[in-house]
This record gives sequence, structure tokens and C-alpha cells, in this order.
Amino acid sequence: MIDKFINKIYQGDCLELFKNILDNSIDITFADPPFNLKKNYTSYDDSLEFQEYLNWCEKWIFEMVRVTKPTGSIFLHNIPKWLTYYATYLNKFAHFKHWISWDAPTAPMGKSLQPAHYGILFYTKKEKGAKIYELRHPHKRDRKQGYLLKDYGGKKDGLHPFGPLISDVWTDIHRIKHNTKRNPHPCQLPIHLMDRLILMTTEQNDIVLDPFSGTGTTAISAKRLGRRYIGFELDNNYVEISEQRLSKTLPNFKLGENWVSFYLNDIVTIKDIDWNELKQYFIIPEPLRTIDYERARIKDKKLIPSESEVLIDNNKIINKKSNKISKEKDNILFKEFEQLIFSGNVQSSMSAVQPKL
Ligand SMILES: C[S@@+](CC[C@H](N)C(=O)[O-])C[C@H]1O[C@@H](n2cnc3c(N)ncnc32)[C@H](O)[C@@H]1O
Repeated sequence: MIDKFINKIYQGDCLELFKNILDNSIDITFADPPFNLKKNYTSYDDSLEFQEYLNWCEKWIFEMVRVTKPTGSIFLHNIPKWLTYYATYLNKFAHFKHWISWDAPTAPMGKSLQPAHYGILFYTKKEKGAKIYELRHPHKRDRKQGYLLKDYGGKKDGLHPFGPLISDVWTDIHRIKHNTKRNPHPCQLPIHLMDRLILMTTEQNDIVLDPFSGTGTTAISAKRLGRRYIGFELDNNYVEISEQRLSKTLPNFKLGENWVSFYLNDIVTIKDIDWNELKQYFIIPEPLRTIDYERARIKDKKLIPSESEVLIDNNKIINKKSNKISKEKDNILFKEFEQLIFSGNVQSSMSAVQPKL
């Protein structure tokens, strides 16, 4: 039943579109709503009255929980002020797991403390039985010397060769600052932020739904990690940009059989349970204590997929990948991948955009 809605970004109001999604049918839901900070959206007034904004938020939060499977998770991204109200509401019918603090300069700037993190509320639908995987990120190092930032003293031989388990404070993912790396959306999220949430709570072929899809960041992350997606977005222009980006995205964020998150020619997130298989692709420093100044490296950089991210330059969409592979070959490759990953279960994302459900 849900299959006919899969792998599409729908243009429209999320509250209307949610009506088409069955209860308990989605593996994870993620929302990055307008923050009511008077941002310059083209089809949305980002300056509602305080209570009006909260009432509206409660409606779509309720829908997110309703459609999420009993094994699934719900993520809400916002500034801390709004998250305190979201949590009070969600505590009534979902289960708190974490408040993830994403270290990034934010707004509004006050006269007390400078806001320096966004929050991501992480809830599960049920108290027990949720799909959750531990993750690892590479050890943090001094940029110039390459030494580990943390002093592990005599315990370096016991370190994990790839890096530590990920905590609820994320300092290694930066907001997109360069215009060449972003599209014309005021609040586009870094895709590897989404990769991390998706790797943490889903498996291959699972379904990820984002009711405020923007320019499709969540959908792209889901697709490149071999997951399925559904996006809702009010603004037709953003839907079109999403379609362009998705048509150039391959489900290829893999090392061997394991899905991983790549960023700038490196791996930024892995599932802990995958390390036993992933380690064959790494040169691991020996003896292990030399990891203090030498990092575990991928044996063959060719294993890293070229970035299939789409760049916008002077309003033209430029696909870095198309420099290497002809468009036709790219499309064939994409279709083959899609069939392989989704077992012919879903429709092609090349025609992903539907005017309405
Ligand atoms: C913070 S942005 C999301 C950005 C997105 N995470 C990205 O990385 O591109 C919020 C989006 O919600 C959309 N939006 C606002 N109200 C909406 C509604 N009622 N239904 C669906 N989308 C809506 C806005 O147009 C905007 O693109």
C-alpha cells in the first residue's frame, strides 16, 4: 500500500499530504520545520504568533508519530526554545531517547549567552524494540600536526582504529557556508548530518519521511544510503530543485556490502556493527598506539564514490559527476542501482515529483 507513495517529493501542505500516509507505515520521520524566525522563504510566512506556531507544530508532530512504525524513530530539528515545547508535547505519546546538540552558530542572537547549537530531539515511538545502531566517527585531530586532540595517556593501544562511538554532542558537522556547495534555500542542512540520523535508526530499504523537505536533503541522504524516501514540500521551486538533485544521486554510499557516510573524500560515519567487515578496506596503524599521530586510512581512494551532489552556479545546475560519466550512462547506471537496491519495488525517482497525491 505504501509502495505507491515511495521515492517521491510531493508538492503541498504537509498536513494535507499526511492524510494519505497510513498509521505505522514509515521507519523514521524527520522534520526540519520553519523556525518562525522571519526567514526569507518564498511560499511561507515564517513569522506566526507564538501560540499559533506551537498549535501548528503540534498538528504535524502528531502526524509524524502516527505514521511512524512501532520500531521507528522520530526526529525534530529546531532551536532549543521551540524544542522545549515539542518535548513537553511529545512526552505524552512517544519516548525520549536523546537531545542531540549540533554545534553550529544559530539565531536569535540574544544579550545573554550566544546560541551555539541546534537541537535534534530523538524520540522512539515505543519504549522498547526500536531499531537503533551505535555509530562511530573518525578520531578528532589537530588540523596542523594530525595528533589526536584528546589525551588518552597510556591507553592508546586500546583505542578503536576508526574512531570513538558518537555521543549526543555533534561538533564535526559544519553548516554549509560556501555558495558553491549550497542551493538557493535559506536553511539547507548538510547531507552528512542526515546520513548520521539515517544510519543510526534504519536499515537498507527502510522508509524515511520528511514533511518539510526543502531542497530534498533528507531524500538524497536516504537514497544514497539505499533507503527509500517520501518528502513533502510547499514550495514548487524547492520541489524542482529536489528532483534535479535526486535524479543525479546514486545509491552508492557503500564500502563493500556496508552503507557508510562519505564527506569530502573521507568516511565520516559508520555503524559500529559494520567495522568487522569494513576494516579490510583500511590501513590500520601498527602498533595501534601510533594512531596518536597516524590515522586509519582507506586502502584505495577509488572505493570512495565521487560526489554525486549537485551544485548550483549562476542558477544553472551543474553536476560534478557528469564531467566523468555521460548523462546517458549515468541514467543507466542509476536505474541498475535502483533495481538492485529496491528490488524493482519502487518507481524511478527520475519522475519523482508529483503535483499532488
Ligand atoms: C527549514 S526548511 C527545510 C530545509 C531542508 N531540511 C533542506 O535541507 O533543504 C523548511 C521547509 O518547509 C517548507 N514548508 C513550510 N510550511 C510547509 C508546509 N505546511 N508543508 C510543507 N512544507 C512546508 C518551507 O517551504 C521550507 O522549504
